[in-house]
Amino acid sequence: MAGKILVLGATGTVGTPLVKALVAKGEKMKAASRAGKPVESAEGVAFDFADPSTFAPAFDGVDRAYVLLPGGNVAITELLLPVIEAAAARKVKVVFQSVFGVDADDGIPYRQVEIALEKSGTPYVVLRPNWFSDNFRTYWKAGIDHGRIAVPAGEGKSSFIDVRDIAESAAAALTTSRFDGKAFNLTGPQALSYAEAAKIVSDAIGKPVAYEAVSDETFIGILTGAGVPNDYAAFLASIFYPVREGWTSAVTPDVETLTGKPPRSVETYVRDNTAALKA
Ligand SMILES: NC(=O)c1ccc[n+]([C@@H]2O[C@H](COP(=O)([O-])OP(=O)(O)OC[C@H]3O[C@@H](n4cnc5c(N)ncnc54)[C@H](OP(=O)(O)O)[C@@H]3O)[C@@H](O)[C@H]2O)c1
Repeated sequence: MAGKILVLGATGTVGTPLVKALVAKGEKMKAASRAGKPVESAEGVAFDFADPSTFAPAFDGVDRAYVLLPGGNVAITELLLPVIEAAAARKVKVVFQSVFGVDADDGIPYRQVEIALEKSGTPYVVLRPNWFSDNFRTYWKAGIDHGRIAVPAGEGKSSFIDVRDIAESAAAALTTSRFDGKAFNLTGPQALSYAEAAKIVSDAIGKPVAYEAVSDETFIGILTGAGVPNDYAAFLASIFYPVREGWTSAVTPDVETLTGKPPRSVETYVRDNTAALKA
């Protein structure tokens, strides 16, 4: 494969380790963000989901693309389908970062994007990661600072995944055609409840962190109080329903299939990020 790889969200949670993994493989990249700044040794390019005039310059010279929708967006099909179309029109291979479990129902917006990609005729790989271990450093960090993780997860368990494993899975999917035309459900090695995860964080940072199972309404109130827009807060609350039902507890071999290595545990994630979790 001679062309460049377009990486969307290149300065974000998954994009940052993905750019590193692709640099390590010697790949040429266009690291996309609205700011368009270079990332690591990769060339930067300006790309904005809200501005389709940025698509053609971003896809110029590209034969593969990592497509993800940045967090905070609820207009899933509206924002992603035009990008899938732009890639398919150029026969660019798409590795699409979807969401664990969306194949349960073809009406789910992320599943609709997967179906459009499958039908587009362009080569593709779908990656469906489970809840990120990294959310403890991003979304749940303010709560951890106050000694509690308050989410509407009930007693449900999730096989949390380290974004380094998503990035390495993505790098594998982008750099070989062996996995084309397939979907992979990416999980960590073990399902944990939020109480169990809170205990791991608490032990590592040396201060109490309790899990509090809250209602959707309380959760939305906490998020909007912290400045999260109401529609995204409501979206986040809605995706805890599958957690309470136990549907996010499955453990799959898919990271190892893609990377040749078992995925990292929450303990490993927390050990490697203790300074950030304490800060
Ligand atoms: N968190 C989880 O537990 C979880 C689990 C499964 C799946 N997912 C899925 O993963 C995706 C999010 O991945 P992520 O957390 O890696 O993303 P992220 O960190 O939120 O993405 C931020 C990146 O996107 C860029 N960006 C922001 N707004 C943009 C726009 N309008 N146009 C173009 N680029 C923009 C940012 O740079 P600029 O600000 O400079 O533009 C930055 O590079 C979502 O689809 C989510 O549903 C998340």
